[in-house]
Amino acid sequence: MKLSEKVGAMQFSPIRKFNPIAQKAKDAGKKVYHLNIGQPDVETPDVFMDAIRTYENKVIAYAESGGLPILQESVIDYFKQYDINFEKKDIIVTAGGSEALTMTFISLLNPGDEVLIAEPFYTNYHTFATTAGGKVVPITTKAEEGYHYAKREQIEAKITDRTKAIVCITPGNPTGTVLTLDEMKLIGEIAKEHDLWIIADEVYREFAYDDRKVTSFAMLPEYADRVIVIDSVSKRFSACGARIGLLISKNEEFMSNVMKVAQGRLCVSTVDQVGAAALFKLPMSYYDEVKAEYCGRRDVVYEELMKIPGVVCQKPGGAFYMTAKLPVDNVEDFLIFLLSEFDDNGETVMFAPAEGFYATPGLGKDEMRIAYVLNQADMRRGVELIRLGIEAYNKR
Ligand SMILES: Cc1ncc(COP(=O)(O)O)c(C=O)c1O
Repeated sequence: MKLSEKVGAMQFSPIRKFNPIAQKAKDAGKKVYHLNIGQPDVETPDVFMDAIRTYENKVIAYAESGGLPILQESVIDYFKQYDINFEKKDIIVTAGGSEALTMTFISLLNPGDEVLIAEPFYTNYHTFATTAGGKVVPITTKAEEGYHYAKREQIEAKITDRTKAIVCITPGNPTGTVLTLDEMKLIGEIAKEHDLWIIADEVYREFAYDDRKVTSFAMLPEYADRVIVIDSVSKRFSACGARIGLLISKNEEFMSNVMKVAQGRLCVSTVDQVGAAALFKLPMSYYDEVKAEYCGRRDVVYEELMKIPGVVCQKPGGAFYMTAKLPVDNVEDFLIFLLSEFDDNGETVMFAPAEGFYATPGLGKDEMRIAYVLNQADMRRGVELIRLGIEAYNKR
C-alpha cells in the first residue's frame, strides 16, 4: 500500500518540530520562555462565553454551509466600521483562516498551478497549496530591507503562465511587515495586468502600529472581482481554539463554486459561531487596547534585540512577530544548544528557526522568528536569554 505523493511532499511544522527537545529541558527542571508559537496570552473577551451560555436551542443542529446568519450579519457590521460593504452572499464561515485557505486553493488551482507569496511566509501555505495540487513560488525578501516585496520588478519576475494568484499576508507572519494602501494598489494593478487572483490574508488586520492605518484589499473596489479576503477570530480576539474563520469575496463565480466545497464539509461548529458573532460586535476600543499591548511588547523586543551585536532587523509595523538575522551560522543548531546545553539561572528560551518559513532551499538558516505573545517582562527576559545564549554559543 502506498500513500499519496501529495502528503509525501508536505512538511512537519517547523514551529512545533523542536517541542520534544524543549520538553526534555523542562523535564530537567529548566524554565523555557516560549517565543516560538503564535498563541497569544491575551484573554478571550467574555462576550464569547456569555453568548454560548445563553444559547437556548435544545438541539445543536447543523448550521448553514455558508455560516450562521447572525455571524454573517455581525461580520458585515464589523466591516462597515471601515466603510467596507459586504453582503451575506459574499461571506462563507470556515473552520479558521486555515480552512478558508484550503478551500480557496482547491477552488483556484489545477495540478502544477503556481501561487506567488513573499518569503519568509507562514509555513502552512505549503500544506494549503499542496493539498490542492498547487505549488508555492516564493518572492524572496531580505531582513536588511524590512522584508518588503511590493516592487513591480520583483513580483513580475516570478510570474509565469502557470501563476494563478498572489498571496499577500498583511500585517505579515512571520515578518510583521505591513502593506500600505498604495502598495496594495500596485499589487492590484499587477494582478489585473496578469489576470491573477489576490488572496489577501488579513487575519492580523487591526495589529498595525505607530501611525499606520488599518488597511484591507477590500478597500479597493476597482479590484473587488479578483480579491479573496481571508479572515479569522483566532488572533484578533485571541480565540484560536474557536476555529472560526471567514472566506470573503465579491466574485460571484468564485463564491458559488467554493460553496460546493463548503457544502461537502456541511458546516462549521454552530456553538462557536454563536460566540464569534458576539466577538465581531465588540467596540473599536477593544482593538485599541489589544493593539497598545502588542505594540508595547514589540518595542521591548526590538529594544532588547538591538542590544545584540550583529543582529539584523528593522522594527516591524504589525502582527505580533519579528524575524531577525542572528550572528550565528546555524540558527537550528543554536536553538538546540539553547534547549539542551544552555541556561541562565535555570532559564532558557525557545523561538522558531526561520528556515522552514522559506521555500528557497538554504535561505533563513541564520534567521529566527519571535512571537511576542508573552507579557513585556517575560519578552524582555526571553530576548535577554537569546543574547546571553549567543555569547555562550559563539564562545564554545
Ligand atoms: C498569516 C496566517 N494566516 C492564517 C492563519 C490560520 O489561522 P487560523 O486557522 O487559526 O484562523 C495563521 C495562523 O497563525 C496565520 O498566521
